Amino acid sequence: MCGIVGYIGNKDCVRFLVDGLKRVEYRGYDSAGILIYRKNTAEHFLVKNVGKIIELEKSISSNLSGNIGIAHTRWATHGEPNHKNSHPHVSNDGNIFLVHNGIIENYTSLKKKLEKTGFTFYSETDTEILVNLIQHYYKGDIEKAVKEALLDVKGTYGIGVFCLNEPDKLIAARLGSPLLIGIGKNENYFASDPSSVLKKTSEVVYMQDREIAVITKDSVVHKTLDDELLEKSIEKISFELTDIEKSGYDHFMLKEIFEQPKTITDSMRGRLLLEEGTTKLGGLNEHPEIYNSLINADKIYIVACGTSWHSALIGEYMLEEYAKIPVEVEYASEFRYRDPIITPKTVVIAISQSGETADTLAAIKEAKRKGAVVLGICNVVGSSISKETDAGVYLHAGPEIGVASTKAFTSQVIVLALITIDIARRKHLSFRQGYKIVKELKILPALVESILENSAVIKEIAKKFSSAKNFLYLGRGYNFPVALEGALKLKEISYIHAEGYPAAEMKHGPIALIDENMPVIFIAIKDTIYDKVITNIKEVKARNGVVISIASYGDEEIDLISDYVIKIPDTTNLLSPILTVIPLQLLAYYIAVEKGYNVDMPRNLAKSVTVE
Ligand code: M6R
Repeated sequence: MCGIVGYIGNKDCVRFLVDGLKRVEYRGYDSAGILIYRKNTAEHFLVKNVGKIIELEKSISSNLSGNIGIAHTRWATHGEPNHKNSHPHVSNDGNIFLVHNGIIENYTSLKKKLEKTGFTFYSETDTEILVNLIQHYYKGDIEKAVKEALLDVKGTYGIGVFCLNEPDKLIAARLGSPLLIGIGKNENYFASDPSSVLKKTSEVVYMQDREIAVITKDSVVHKTLDDELLEKSIEKISFELTDIEKSGYDHFMLKEIFEQPKTITDSMRGRLLLEEGTTKLGGLNEHPEIYNSLINADKIYIVACGTSWHSALIGEYMLEEYAKIPVEVEYASEFRYRDPIITPKTVVIAISQSGETADTLAAIKEAKRKGAVVLGICNVVGSSISKETDAGVYLHAGPEIGVASTKAFTSQVIVLALITIDIARRKHLSFRQGYKIVKELKILPALVESILENSAVIKEIAKKFSSAKNFLYLGRGYNFPVALEGALKLKEISYIHAEGYPAAEMKHGPIALIDENMPVIFIAIKDTIYDKVITNIKEVKARNGVVISIASYGDEEIDLISDYVIKIPDTTNLLSPILTVIPLQLLAYYIAVEKGYNVDMPRNLAKSVTVE
């Protein structure tokens, strides 16, 4: 979604700001803008553009330079993407400039109040109201004015402010929308995402809710909105520049698919205890009381959205089968607005790659309000969800940039398996059973590698089906959520309509869709329900459907009844989604490329959805 970058120092910052915006392009946006201040001439320049950052670059004159600046990519919420709605926004008196991520919920009442005192509004945005509210309070001290304005605001924000009357400082503040300060030498930065500052520094201070920072080129002062001084620690960004570059791949999505042998290994690192036939998770063991609530829970809710919701469904199957705890998986957006029954022995697990998804954050807050212990499974270190939960586990999958989630999904499934095994082993699971699963986990990266080596077969199938209008994805048991995930991947990046269903459910309705134009993807590996899936395949074939099967090496029967077969290695039941999803990720990717789409930035989508 929206992105923010800011710079204050002695050097020319135009390139840094534009490159910083480019680093967050993948999050989704529809317009971009930049404000530059040149100290020696006391001039300022405001450039905005609808569309891609490349358009903004074209509008920036080659001799534009300056040593202070704020920049923004906007994903429209209030008002369509156009020049006047783009950020930075400027106050009526032309003195104050603002970039803003988030939503000001009480903007209508604030607008009325400001209109009564003579303010005029030129855009449809809530941000323009905030910048004028700051002007309303401005009496020569920008820090004070920002604080006063923010105390009036209901909603969420990550903001960067520049005031022409006080050009030696920038102000940053946050409530519910990520913001960090980058620490440099004789220069400092702020950004909504660490990748925007990483080229300059790996030392950052993560801002927390209701905090404000006054940033000059030589200092950063952190305070609460109530003016309490804060001592904040400097942290190291947990990834390297190569992690956020394509490294020779055509797209981030392809890079991330191919990274999975490594990211799966990273998610398991230090967490497997083969000799004891179990696993351990530092993030849970460090909080024994909270972890005991999970182990002894009589009900677990897992809340998540999108792909994370699909991994949650796999977690439900795992935890019920092995840990014997009843689990209910909820869309975070639904959980929040219905009245879930939370007893003293209910535990909520929130799953999120970004750790910033607004619906999931709201569900966590609702669960806490009702007294539940809430655990998080997140990828982004220091994210809002990781802070909001009582304890949790990081995926350690590294930054995921492709909008279509791939490596985060497989790491989420790994982490859910690790939690399941640890709990199950503390209860009734035998050493022998635990040992077998941990052994399978150890060889999983090599099995994923072997599927990736076969990607040419999938590319060929993709070519054949890129003009299909509809796809059906079918799977059973642990692989029903994988069918949902395969369909979501295809929809997101190729814009082809696709549905995922439990294979047996097909005959209760979707079977009506089947004809010779309908590719049906079956996950038909040799597991306990293999025979049932074979029956479902025959039902499709009997209606002239085109069957593409994801099947086990050595299965010859499937070759006879499928039109195309993608063979994968076997593993134990609860880990099979990690192998079956890989061909589906590749299939979606190659179909989208075949259709000529921008895989990393699919239309209308944002990488992290920070609005409800
Ligand atoms: O960051 P999160 O895991 O909380 O994001 C949840 C969904 O927005 C996300 O999985 C989305 O569905 C992806 N585009 C899926 O590829």
